[in-house]
Amino acid sequence: MSSPVLIQGGMGVGVSNWQLARAVSLEGQLGVVSGTMIDTVFARRLQDGDPGEHMQRACLNFPDQELAERVYQRLYVPGGKAKDAPYFSLPMMGIRPSVASVELTVLANFAEVFLAKEGHQGLVGINYLEKIQMPTLPSLYGAMLAGVDYVLMGAGIPKAIPGILDALSQHQKVSMKLFVEANAGSEQDNYLSFDPGLLLQMDQPLKRPKFIAIVSSHTLAANLAKKSSGKVDGFVIENHTAGGHNAPPRGPLKLSENGEPVYGERDAADLNEMRKLGLPFWLAGGMYGSCGSLQAALDAGATGVQIGTPFAFCKESGIKDELKNTVLQNVQSAEVGVFTDPCASASGYPFKVTMIEGTLADEAVFEERERVCDLGYLRTPYERDDHSIGFRCPGEPVGDFVRKGGAAVDTCDRKCLCNALLATIGLGQVRKEHYVEPALVTAGDNIMELKNFIEKDALGYSAKSVIDKVLQH
Ligand SMILES: Cc1cc2nc3c(=O)[nH]c(=O)nc-3n(C[C@H](O)[C@H](O)[C@H](O)COP(=O)(O)O)c2cc1C
Repeated sequence: MSSPVLIQGGMGVGVSNWQLARAVSLEGQLGVVSGTMIDTVFARRLQDGDPGEHMQRACLNFPDQELAERVYQRLYVPGGKAKDAPYFSLPMMGIRPSVASVELTVLANFAEVFLAKEGHQGLVGINYLEKIQMPTLPSLYGAMLAGVDYVLMGAGIPKAIPGILDALSQHQKVSMKLFVEANAGSEQDNYLSFDPGLLLQMDQPLKRPKFIAIVSSHTLAANLAKKSSGKVDGFVIENHTAGGHNAPPRGPLKLSENGEPVYGERDAADLNEMRKLGLPFWLAGGMYGSCGSLQAALDAGATGVQIGTPFAFCKESGIKDELKNTVLQNVQSAEVGVFTDPCASASGYPFKVTMIEGTLADEAVFEERERVCDLGYLRTPYERDDHSIGFRCPGEPVGDFVRKGGAAVDTCDRKCLCNALLATIGLGQVRKEHYVEPALVTAGDNIMELKNFIEKDALGYSAKSVIDKVLQH
């Protein structure tokens, strides 16, 4: 099958869910599900009673029915939990996760891809963040068991992944170096490993998905093309106007008057150099999500475009209807601000925040929230004095972070993206006295472009209409 011209960008957490990816895939383009925190998304859907029984249907197609049944029954709440009851917590994944965590991760990734691919021959990809390492190996295997066609990965330098895909396709044991904030002078290396044979007995090799690295610079693309552990099949070149996390500007961080990172010419990838690599590449961010933008990308030698923001607010996406409508109404009636927040994300990367009242972008809402770290996907492993590995997140309670050797200054203005992004898709945790975790919406700088996707007589629009408008000449 030839390369798609349009990639619907992977959008976490659960924004590019299986419904959105399937809708895009049915139109002959590459639909991408988000694999970020998908174990928790899956677990919470089950605690909501598995509306539509979609998770159950996916589980019934998992190659090991005993495993699927075990995970499903552990999490499923018939009829759904009471609205004001909290979701139960899953243990955070460590370096050597429990069998239960691994099984859930494999099954959840399988289910999302299975449902996106169900009933058609179109292409489906899955998106992960290199920065979130702990669940990566079992996640890849789960997605591959469902026949995922593409793996796309950004937010880091995913050199190890191509070789891991080769090995997993043969059901071989894999390992990956864990990035640990080390003590000065420490030479200890730490590895994550995963052995498919301990989970399932399968003989038939799996399809090796194509691997696309999401990068912001041609230098990193060239480096990955040359030095990865296996074949890199292409690149998404994403500029700093794109929704979600952005690569930081090159050199020392400079902030504008209103506190946003300042990007310059050096931050733009050299497309001439990209063409020389001889691998397909797709352009993403800002203008590439506009109506009729495909031609500009093709003229620049790209295979096509990757688009996020217009899909994030279409009918099929996972964002709660109430928030989608607020954004679309604001786009129609006024300017909607998007702030590139250098501090919001514990990952250390700038993160685009849509300024919406009542969400965590609202100062009062942020101040009211008590810091809790109970999901922990963005925690960083660090080496303790006794060389054991601990985990800390600058979004956690300040005292905890400092006790673990973190600097208090690093906690300043950090938002808990894990909890907030789950709330954005309607899976927010309920805390004491019925306080529900506030949401946070990310979008690209070009958010006002959504005006061109809104239908005349209705606020909402479909994924198909985004595709039609972007592909039009
Ligand atoms: C709501 C939202 C969530 C996103 N989440 C992710 C993510 O989890 N991983 C990722 O690689 N990119 C993520 N992105 C970036 C998109 O995949 C895509 O590259 C980007 O949105 C393209 O630029 P645009 O927003 O101007 O269309 C996200 C974008 C949005 C709008």
